[in-house]
Parts: sequence; C-alpha cells; structure tokens
Amino acid sequence: MEKSLVIGAAGQIGTELVSELRSKRGIANVIAADLRVDNLASPFYELDATNESALRDLVLNEGVTEIYHLVAILSATGEKAPKRAWELNMKTLLNILDLAKERIIQRVFWPSSIAVFGPSTPKIKTPQFTVMDPNTVYGISKSAGELWCQYYFENYGVDVRSIRYPGLISWKTMPGGGTTDYAIEIFHSARKGIDFRSFLGPDTRLPMMYMDDAVRATIEIMEADPDSIKIRTSYNLSGVDFTPRELFDEIKKIYPEFNITFKPDSRQKIADSWPGSIDDSEAKLDWGWNHKFDTKAIVKLMSDNI
Ligand code: NAD
Ligand code: SER
Repeated sequence: MEKSLVIGAAGQIGTELVSELRSKRGIANVIAADLRVDNLASPFYELDATNESALRDLVLNEGVTEIYHLVAILSATGEKAPKRAWELNMKTLLNILDLAKERIIQRVFWPSSIAVFGPSTPKIKTPQFTVMDPNTVYGISKSAGELWCQYYFENYGVDVRSIRYPGLISWKTMPGGGTTDYAIEIFHSARKGIDFRSFLGPDTRLPMMYMDDAVRATIEIMEADPDSIKIRTSYNLSGVDFTPRELFDEIKKIYPEFNITFKPDSRQKIADSWPGSIDDSEAKLDWGWNHKFDTKAIVKLMSDNI
C-alpha cells in the first residue's frame, strides 16, 4: 500500500493536491506537512523540511513510500532574499532525494518551473531541450534542482519525476509570491468591483494553467510506468497562454464595469525573461499528457468560484 507525504501542503498547490490524492487513495494514506499547519486537515504534521532528522523520523514512523515535495521560495520573493531562496530550495530537495537514495522512500515528485528558461531561450513554443539561462535565483535553483534529480536517477537509481509547471491559476488558496500571481489577483479585484492595477505590462505573454490540470498532471506522472518517464530532469508542460490585456478582455465579458491600469514593477523583468508559450510534445508522447482547460473555461471557473 502506498503512503504519500505532501510537504508544503498548506500552499497553493499542496492544498489542492492533498485533497485530490485523499479522494483517490483514502484520507489516512495521504499525510500533509508544512511549517504552517493552521489550515491543514488530519493527518498532518508541523515540519520544517530543512530539518533532515525530523523529516526522516516522520517518514520512518509513518511508513511513507512517496513524497510530493512542494516547498520553495518562488520567483518574486526569491529576488528579495536570494541566499535564503537558494538554501531552502536546494537543501530541502537534497534531503528528500537522499531518503530515496537510501530506499527509505520509493518515489519523489518535485516541481520545476518555466523559470528555468531565460532571456536567450526561444520564447514561442519553447522546446523541451533548448538554451536555458535563468536569471532569477528561483530559476537558477530550479535549473540546478533538475540536474540534481537527473544525477540521483542516473547514479543512484532514484525514481524522481518532475514537471515544469507554468503559472498556476486557482481560487482555493492565494498564490505564494510568484511573477504569475497577477492572473489570480485580477479575479479578486473583479469580484470586489475594484479597478485592477497590473504589475505586468499589457502585452506580457506567459504560459499558464488551471490548477485542476496541474494536479492531474502531477498525479498522472507519478502513476505512470517508470519506463515511460524518459526525461529525469523535468518535463515541459503546457496549458494556455495569454497577456494581461487578453485576460482582462475575457474577464470584462463577465464584469462589464471592470477596469485595468498597468504599472509594471520589478516583476516585469522576471516575466520578460520567461517564455510566452511552451511545447510539451515530450510529456504528451511519454506519459500521455494533455491539458483540458482553455482560457475561457478558466475565466468562467475563477469568476464563479472566487
Ligand atoms: P506556496 O508558496 O503556495 O507553498 C509553499 C509551501 O511551503 C507553503 O505553505 C510554506 O509554508 C511551505 N514551506 C516553506 N518553507 C517550508 C519548510 N522549510 N518546511 C516545510 N514547509 C515549508 O507554493 P506553491 O505555489 O504551492 O508551489 C509549490 C511548488 O510548485 C514550488 O516548488 C514552486 O516552485 C512550484 N511551482 C509553482 C508554480 C505556481 O504557479 N504556483 C509554478 C511553477 C512551479
Ligand atoms: N508561478 C511561478 C512564479 O511566478 C512560476 O514558477 O514564480
């Protein structure tokens, strides 16, 4: 019997991944862990994932077989505290990969990001294998993390699986300090009837995905036959792509009085270094990935639920 541990379970993705895993596998078989536990439902633990021995004890005591490792400092917050972001993002990943190296756990999921790409990367339909010159500490940590995953797979046979999430759009939990967060904040403004001030310019195209697609991709790659997982750095994953102007135009069809202004801040530089759209042919070919939600559907679901 599998026993899953989701670390970073109180965050934007963790909240929804835990509830989907529990509905598929049973509540007792999915343990949630985070530094913040106020919103977690049992079974849960307060855990600092940088604390290697506390992590090891939890895993051994609970008989955990697989870990979904969602702890990270994201792009915008990372630029404010680069060394803290590097230390957290790398140390926690290595702690978990070591548990798999020792065969204490069988499988690891660790998300990468579109942030692994940089200013020299082709922007449209960015291929799986291409120039990668990330210029944020978050992107650098994700790029290094991808290579560590491949290293542990090749040298120690660790079954680690990863996808490069685009910006994720959801309504259950607020996002955690990323550059793509505007695409969630805009719905909260529309709902409250407040004009929205976008921190990205009107024509900044970024790859995005509805949370239900991201959670399904996460579970699908973890349930795939290990032989089908040919890429052990991280898979490109594509959903939709739009600019702030295009998203606003779609939302305005639901809230005709809604207004937007544009005041780009430091996050514009980060967004400008990322792709506008992603080619995810390898994920489609290797483990049958396909997204379901288009921009129109996302706007409807966000507007109905926020
Ligand atoms: P989030 O910031 O919402 O959640 C991260 C969680 O980790 C938080 O609940 C936080 O309390 C917890 N945490 C922080 N330090 C911890 C520690 N030392 N020990 C235990 N828990 C700790 O992040 P998210 O948006 O849910 O992202 C999850 C993962 O997905 C991250 O690796 C992120 O880089 C990646 N990702 C997210 C997006 C996105 O759009 N949300 C896109 C690409 C990749
Ligand atoms: N949504 C994330 C961010 O903006 C991308 O990894 O940081």
